[in-house]
Amino acid sequence: MKFFIDTANLAQIKEAQDLGVLDGVTTNPSLMAKEGITGAENVKNHYLKICEIVDGDVSAEVIATDLEGMKKEGDALAALHPQIVVKIPMIKDGVKALKYFSDKGIKTNCTLVFSAGQALLAAKAGASYVSPFIGRLDDISTDGLALIEQIRIIYDNYGFATEILAASVRHTMHVIECAEIGADVMTGPLSSIEGLLKHPLTDSGLATFLADHAKAAQ
Ligand code: G3P
Repeated sequence: MKFFIDTANLAQIKEAQDLGVLDGVTTNPSLMAKEGITGAENVKNHYLKICEIVDGDVSAEVIATDLEGMKKEGDALAALHPQIVVKIPMIKDGVKALKYFSDKGIKTNCTLVFSAGQALLAAKAGASYVSPFIGRLDDISTDGLALIEQIRIIYDNYGFATEILAASVRHTMHVIECAEIGADVMTGPLSSIEGLLKHPLTDSGLATFLADHAKAAQ
């Protein structure tokens, strides 16, 4: 399972990278805005900075919602750096854009996916990644993890190469359950990755080991 971090915050990306378990980064227009990154040049430079920190795929989302606009913007994003994956929304022109980029050999991440039907369409159009938003489904009392299970079955039935990127992951249990189901990738905040480290018995066990060692050394 690949671990992506879902942020545009450079310090958090570096922290996850330094842990040695990071496989990539996902961003979106809200996450870029949160870091105060506005203007084409600043956005471009920010993506380049992210690519310098991580070795893996970096999803950069188009703002355009029409096919020609998405093609133009996506081509420019892909030309920035070989690690850039063009993130395309699940709308009608988005499906056409996925096919356009897939035919050109440019990697894509189909975002804002909330149903198995949308995930099937994204795979048919040749998306490299499909991003079902599990946290946002949970927010409206719909089982986000059940959607990951459904997509896993569908993709396995037909051998689709599209990777299931569980997005809108909010906490460590999402990560663990996505791993049990067989999501190819998860993207979440730094806390969802670092949370995997924690267990009170690890902390108390280590404290005892160190105290016993100190006593024996006296
Ligand atoms: O990767 C999608 C993600 O950015 C959405 O997460 O927490 O805003 O639902 P969230």
